[in-house]
Amino acid sequence: MCGIVGIIGTQPVAPLLVDALKRLEYRGYDSAGVATIEGNHLDRRRAEGKLVNLEARLKASPLSGTVGIGHTRWATHGAPTERNAHPHATETVAIVHNGIIENFFSLKTELQAAGYAFHTDTDTEVVAVLLTQALDKGLKPVEAFRAVLPRLEGAFALAVLFDGETDLLIAARHGPPLAIGHGDGEMYIGSDAIALSPFTDQVTFLEDGDWAVLTASSAAFFDKTGATVERRAQTSSAMHMTVDKGNHRHFMEKEIHEQPEVMSHTLAHFLDFSSGTARDNRAPIDFGAIDRLALSACGTAYYAGLIGKYWMERVARLPVDIDVASEFRYREMPLKKGGLALFISQSGETADTLASLRYCKENGQHIGAIVNVPESTIARESDAIFQTLAGPEIGVASTKAFTCQLSVLVSLAIAVGKARGAIDAAKEVELIRALTEAPRYANKALKLERQIEKIAGDLAKVRHILYLGRDTNYPLALEGALKLKEISYIHAEGYAAGELKHGPIALIDENMPVVVIAPHDRIFEKTVSNMQEVAARGGRIILITDEKGAAEASIEAEHVVVMPNMPEILTPIVYAIPVQLLAYHTALAMGTDVDQPRNLAKSVTVE
Ligand code: F6R
Repeated sequence: MCGIVGIIGTQPVAPLLVDALKRLEYRGYDSAGVATIEGNHLDRRRAEGKLVNLEARLKASPLSGTVGIGHTRWATHGAPTERNAHPHATETVAIVHNGIIENFFSLKTELQAAGYAFHTDTDTEVVAVLLTQALDKGLKPVEAFRAVLPRLEGAFALAVLFDGETDLLIAARHGPPLAIGHGDGEMYIGSDAIALSPFTDQVTFLEDGDWAVLTASSAAFFDKTGATVERRAQTSSAMHMTVDKGNHRHFMEKEIHEQPEVMSHTLAHFLDFSSGTARDNRAPIDFGAIDRLALSACGTAYYAGLIGKYWMERVARLPVDIDVASEFRYREMPLKKGGLALFISQSGETADTLASLRYCKENGQHIGAIVNVPESTIARESDAIFQTLAGPEIGVASTKAFTCQLSVLVSLAIAVGKARGAIDAAKEVELIRALTEAPRYANKALKLERQIEKIAGDLAKVRHILYLGRDTNYPLALEGALKLKEISYIHAEGYAAGELKHGPIALIDENMPVVVIAPHDRIFEKTVSNMQEVAARGGRIILITDEKGAAEASIEAEHVVVMPNMPEILTPIVYAIPVQLLAYHTALAMGTDVDQPRNLAKSVTVE
C-alpha cells in the first residue's frame, strides 16, 4: 500500500518526486525517501514519518539528479524507521516497492550464503540485492532485471534506478497498479494517475505482469513472458481533479460537507429525476435474468454493501450473498454460472476485493463494480462499472465515497427491481421522488454540526462506545463504530439493536455511551424497547432520530440529535452524516491526526 514514483528527464527531479509523493501520501505515511543519480552515482535521502520530514532533509541536503525514484511507505515488513525506509539501495541499484515479496526469506538466505550483506528488516531489499548479484555476474541493467523478475513471488510494483545510468528507469507490475506517464522529454512512473497529474495526462496503465524500460524520451513495454508488447497511452481525467482542502481544516471535513453535491451527481447519473425512472446504463448485464447476487467489499465499502443487501432483497426481491472480501476470496463459495457478482471499492485497488472479483470471474459470473476511480484495476477488470461520482477522496476515513456507494446501490436496487418485475412503475416513481430529496436532507443534517460537536466533547472523555441500529441502520451502526475507532482511537462496537440482550448488554453501565441510530421507521418501537433496556441499566443514550421519533421515544437520553422526518429509504444515506460528524469532532477533541490516522492507509493493495 505504499506509493511509488519515478521521473526521468533533464531537470532536477527531487522536488518533482516530492510533489508527486504528496499526492500518494494517502497510501501510507510511515516514512518517505527519494534517490537520484548525482554526478554519476546513486544517492538518496530518507526520513521516518511524514513527507514534511523528508522535505526538511532535502532542504538541508538537496539532490540535483535528473533521474530518480521516490516512495511513501505503509510498513509491512520491518518497523517504520529510517533504516527500513525506501529507496533501498546497494552500491549499484536503488529500488522502491509497493506490495510484498512473499519468498523474500528464501531469497535472502540464498544471497547471504553467496556473501551478500543485508541492512534492513524489509522484504524489498532482497530485490535490490538480487539485481546487484545479476550485475555482478556481468549482466547489463535491463538483462539483470529480466533475469531477476521471474524469481520474485508475491505482489509488487517496482521502480528501479541503476548507478551510472542517467537515462534509464525500469518499472514492473505484478499485482498492485502502476501507471507510466508520457511527457515532453520526460517520462514518469506512479502508483496512480493522480500522482502524475501535475506532469501529464497521457498515461499507460501497465497490465498485470508487465514491465517497462524508460528513457527520457521513450518507453518500451514487455509482458510477463518478456515479449515486447504495445501498450497504448490514454488521456487520464486525473489532471482535472483538484485535491486541496479549500476553507476546511481537514480533507475529511471537506469531504463530509461535499456530500449533498456528490450524492446528487451520483443519483442523477443513475436516476432520471424528471421522469422518475431508473436510467438504463447497466449494459452489458441483463438484470432481469439474474436470480442471485454475490456482493463483496472491505471496510466501509462492505458496510455500504450490507445496506445494499437490504435494498436488493426488499426492493428488488433479489437474494444477496455478502461477505468481506478477505473471507470471500478463500471460502470457495459455490456460484451458479451466469450469476452477477458486484464489488464495491472507492479506490478500485483493494487487494482482497480484487482477488474476490477474480474468483467470481473464474467461476463464470458477470462482474459489476461500484468504484470511484474509473481507471482502477477493479474497474478495468469488470464487465460493467457503476461509478460513484464522489471525486477524489483524500481523507483516509471514507465519507463521501460511502454515501455515493449507497446512492449507486439504491439506484441499482430500483433498476433490478424494475427489470425483475418486483416493483411497478408507481413504486419506481415513488422511490425516485424520495431519493431526489436526499441532497436536501443531507444539507439539513450538516446544519446539526454545532450540536454534534458538543456531544463529541463528551465522547472524547470515554474509552468505549456502543453503536446500535436496526434494519438498514444496523450496518450504519457498524460504520459509525468503524469511523469513530479509526480516527479517534476510542474503542467502539456496532450491534444490531436486537442483539444487545444476547451478550453486549453486559457492558452497559453508567460509563458506557450508547449511540442509537433510530429514525421513526417500521421497527422504531422495537428499537425504543432496546433503548429502554440500556436506560434501565444506567447506560448513557445518544439518540439520533427524527422529529417523530424524538416526540415518541419516551426515553431519558443524554443527547437527542433531531433529524428532519424523511422517507425510510433515505435514512442510511442521510443519517451517515451525523454519524461521520460525531467521529470527526470526537477525533478533533482528542487531537488525533484526522486525515492520516495512525497505522492506516487509504488504499490497501496488500492482503
Ligand atoms: C474506512 C475505510 C476503509 C475502506 C476499505 C476499502 O473509513 O476507508 O475501511 O473502506 O479499506 O477500501 P476501498 O473502498 O478503496 O476498497
